[in-house]
Amino acid sequence: MSESLWIRHAGQLLTLRGDDGARRGAALSDLGLIQNGAVLMRDGLIEAAGPADEVERLARDADNVTEVDADGRVVMPGFVDSHTHLIFSRPRLLDYEMRIRGADYHQIAEAGAGILSSVNAVRSAAPEDLEAQARRAVHQCAQHGTTTVEAKSGYGLDEKGEMKTLVVLAAIDGRPLDIVSTYLGAHVIPPEHQKDPDAYIDWMSQKMMPRIKRQKLARFADAYCDRGAFTIEQARRYLSAARARGFDLKIHAEQFSHTGAARLAVELEATSADHLEQADTDDAAILGRSSTMATLLPGSVFHLGLDRYAPARTLIANGAAVALATDFNPGTSPTCSMPMVLSLACTFMRMSPAEAISAATINGAHAVRRAERVGSLEPGKLADVILVNATDYREIPYHFGVNLVAMTIKRGAVIYRQGQVSGGTAKENAADAR
Ligand code: NIG
Ligand code: FE
Repeated sequence: MSESLWIRHAGQLLTLRGDDGARRGAALSDLGLIQNGAVLMRDGLIEAAGPADEVERLARDADNVTEVDADGRVVMPGFVDSHTHLIFSRPRLLDYEMRIRGADYHQIAEAGAGILSSVNAVRSAAPEDLEAQARRAVHQCAQHGTTTVEAKSGYGLDEKGEMKTLVVLAAIDGRPLDIVSTYLGAHVIPPEHQKDPDAYIDWMSQKMMPRIKRQKLARFADAYCDRGAFTIEQARRYLSAARARGFDLKIHAEQFSHTGAARLAVELEATSADHLEQADTDDAAILGRSSTMATLLPGSVFHLGLDRYAPARTLIANGAAVALATDFNPGTSPTCSMPMVLSLACTFMRMSPAEAISAATINGAHAVRRAERVGSLEPGKLADVILVNATDYREIPYHFGVNLVAMTIKRGAVIYRQGQVSGGTAKENAADAR
């Protein structure tokens, strides 16, 4: 028998419905908001999302319906976090303290901390331990309202380390969040290849890419093009090889230095160019004329204590499609909170709350090429829905550092419900607990 879930009394239902393409310009502000809305989900898919009375008629006819009363609160699609480095074994607390004392990202890397310390940690970790770490991270994502997560390899770099990472990602896919995997072999040049980066690129292109494709372990390939990582020529070679092998492309572009990677992303028809803190007006114009998503990651700028955020307003004014993601990773952005990313985007990049929500849902879906399945509440899409403890969606970024997500629904199943604080004195609560 089929199973239905019916969310009633949504004070603001954000459907994000609209045209097929990624949102640009004024369309970023259109949340498809319905006051007094409802959502009916059946067998993991959206059956209807619209005005309460219309949905109620359908819900009354459906069998086996479970009701959730939104009680006037906000209901919207789950977040699509389109850029994470989910698997990294352990936090980088040494980096954190060095940075607080004044070292910058590159000095930390040169001192032997930085990305290579995560590479050592992942290479020596047992697959079960990586899986446990990934599961904890995914559960945190779900608590913060994320229902689809892109996740990159890139802390293994050698065959064993990368395969181990990608196999763990495949194992946790769908449990309970959907994972979109990315091969980030070109993260940094591994220690054993410092003297022959070209040979490393050849090895990735000829050995790793065909194997990963054959085993269907990643849809995307990504390269980190920056000082201390890959040059533009190296990134071009790696990404061209990846495209020839059938991968869709992503690029870490213009993060610390301006390298021309945003331009390269457009030239190679990459799905997204991510970071863009150093992007200029020409880059914005080129991205605006392209189908490449500009994925902005303000969490890394915030955590590194820097002050140059990506030029979101210029990008939007030039017609670029903009997505927001956490960049969850142990070095530059140790958070998987999309609500916090929305706060940063609004305060530091001057995106409006509505633009930020579109960027974190439907445009995130486009950034992982899943927009036909997720990112909006429309019939036939996955029933990935969140209920938020707010009566106005603008409260989501407004209350920074506060998680207002009350319930996360993945493929029609409630996977997270917010816990409760007891109302009495500490003594009374202790007595109640006994
Ligand atoms: O997206 N900058 C490159 N990659 C990551 C950071 C990785 C790390 O420091 O571990 C980023 O910010
Ligand atoms: Fe990243």
